[in-house]
Amino acid sequence: MKEKKDIFGERPDGERPAGEKDIFGERLAVHYDELKWLYMELYNDEAHFTELCDNLRGIYNARKASLKALDAKREADPEWFRGSGLLGMMMYVGQFAGNLKGVAEHLDYVKSCGVNYLHLMPLMESPAGRSDGGYAVADFRKVQKELGTVEDLEALAVQCHEQGISLCMDFVMNHTSEDHEWARRARAGEKEYQDRYFFYDRWEIPMQFEKTVPQVFPTTAPGNFTWLPDVGKHVMTSFYPYQWDLNYANPVVFNEMVYNYLFLANLGIDVIRLDAVPYIWKELGTTCRNLPQVHTLVRMMRMIGEAVCPGVLLLGEVVMEPVKVAPYFGTVEKPECHMLYNVTTMATIWHTVATQDVRLLKKQLDIVYGLPAEYTFLNYLRCHDDIGWGLDYDTLSQWGMQQIPHKQFLNDFFTGRLEDSFSRGELYNNDPITRDARFCGTTASMCGVEKAGFCGDEHGMERAIRLDVMLHAFMLFQAGIPVIYSGDEVGQVNDYSYKEDPEKRMDSRYIHRGVFQWNLVKNIEKEGTVQERLFKSLRKLETLRAEHEAFEARAKAETCESGDDGVLILKRTGTAETLFGIFNFSRERKEVPWTEGGTDLLTGERIGGDGKVWLRPYDFVWGILEPDCRRAGTAREA
Ligand code: GLC
Repeated sequence: MKEKKDIFGERPDGERPAGEKDIFGERLAVHYDELKWLYMELYNDEAHFTELCDNLRGIYNARKASLKALDAKREADPEWFRGSGLLGMMMYVGQFAGNLKGVAEHLDYVKSCGVNYLHLMPLMESPAGRSDGGYAVADFRKVQKELGTVEDLEALAVQCHEQGISLCMDFVMNHTSEDHEWARRARAGEKEYQDRYFFYDRWEIPMQFEKTVPQVFPTTAPGNFTWLPDVGKHVMTSFYPYQWDLNYANPVVFNEMVYNYLFLANLGIDVIRLDAVPYIWKELGTTCRNLPQVHTLVRMMRMIGEAVCPGVLLLGEVVMEPVKVAPYFGTVEKPECHMLYNVTTMATIWHTVATQDVRLLKKQLDIVYGLPAEYTFLNYLRCHDDIGWGLDYDTLSQWGMQQIPHKQFLNDFFTGRLEDSFSRGELYNNDPITRDARFCGTTASMCGVEKAGFCGDEHGMERAIRLDVMLHAFMLFQAGIPVIYSGDEVGQVNDYSYKEDPEKRMDSRYIHRGVFQWNLVKNIEKEGTVQERLFKSLRKLETLRAEHEAFEARAKAETCESGDDGVLILKRTGTAETLFGIFNFSRERKEVPWTEGGTDLLTGERIGGDGKVWLRPYDFVWGILEPDCRRAGTAREA
């Protein structure tokens, strides 16, 4: 067994001043039995459990007073992240501002976007050319040289907190880079380190895995194993060959990775994104996805977090079909992640744009709205990854849309191959055999800004902006945290320069990871520019969202019949108000029957006086029902 860690600056237990409450001890006691039970069930290793608990105390002791104060504040208000006032943005530090200090210098811009939750894309040490955008981590305690230092990161966290901004960072827990110290030592033949990964002398076992484990990157990294000729062994690599899967059946791996997660927490990171979490447990004869042990591990991490840093949230990255996603919330009594990505809704939004048919989106929202109100989603239109068309094909096939041809239609539409398409972008992991492919592009390019700009088509641009704003209005109408992908607020389009970079050109996800265009920001104040129209429309919606309690997670959300497959109607009922949103996903002008009246939240005008609402193509309305018709629940005279 290992010594207690001193790297956290542990204050020996005996030093707690007399009379000071043992807060950590009390918090741990709440979960101790369950934690020990789960740990022993998985590892049956008392010594490592004791080591874990001792080190947790050390990490708690080393936690800064300011962070402990934040923990206490958030513990007293566990709903702190479930209001309507949080607005997120995700960005690459280097692309946005060169390095961490640059981000700190540009926090004024972040604030001017209304953002108070900032997700910094992976920034820990990662070898150039074999980094998977930073998702191949070589050192969990060191920042990439060109981005700065751990001290810069800590200083940025302090500055963010001073300005009311929470920070999110990735915790890449499924694998390490082949350059990580453990991997190097494993490669050098140290058995102890080989045991932290999945090493096999012969192809027999890998071959058995290959029979049941699907491939994540079928075209860029075929197979789930990589042969290491220098070692004479196969190593499991579910993602890229340079990302070696960690073996969580080894308690040392779990303990050490927990310390790495808490290292981020102690730097002042508020939200920890659990990268690729469904993959972390491997078992022969299974798909190695979403296994029960994954939930045990996440539940243990949740309890550990609640003991050491209860102000820190776990955000699960579960890019799976809906039935596999919700279990990562755990149960209300035994929660796992605090938040999850609303990935199916995101993909369904884009399906709806291409088909102009809201039926599937309505069905998807009915599922989400039917989940316990404690479940909090992070909503987004685009992120750093591709869009996988993980839709509900059972339902779609009943409506005549079969999986393969439909995926092909979506990809044709969004790459701009169809005549009536305005979108621009590229395929990702295009598999010529299964004809399956995913899609990459920025929101603006997918909405038509790129094409209209290129063709000087003002009418097309007007429509593109309307679609872009409507999709954001739809996203902002949902509960949870809406997250804008940096650049989307100013309509940044695809960046094709990655093709000239030999390290990136095989990965089309870089098309939407371009350098942030600060020149676009200048246009925000220039009337009539794309940036002015987009940015100001979004700000208006975001401000309204923050002002209305019906956008909070605990409000009741529902879909309504619109009588038109191109139009989606949503309602949110809080304690004091009912809001409604009418979204036209079609390219036609629509007359929507509306007898409930109400006031337009954006213009303050009366709605539906003549029993109808008129919507231009891709237009929307955000309205509030007047109190008397809420009570009566009936039609209201103009
Ligand atoms: C996650 C990331 C993705 C990365 C993968 C492997 O899915 O979002 O960008 O390639 O994990 O770490």
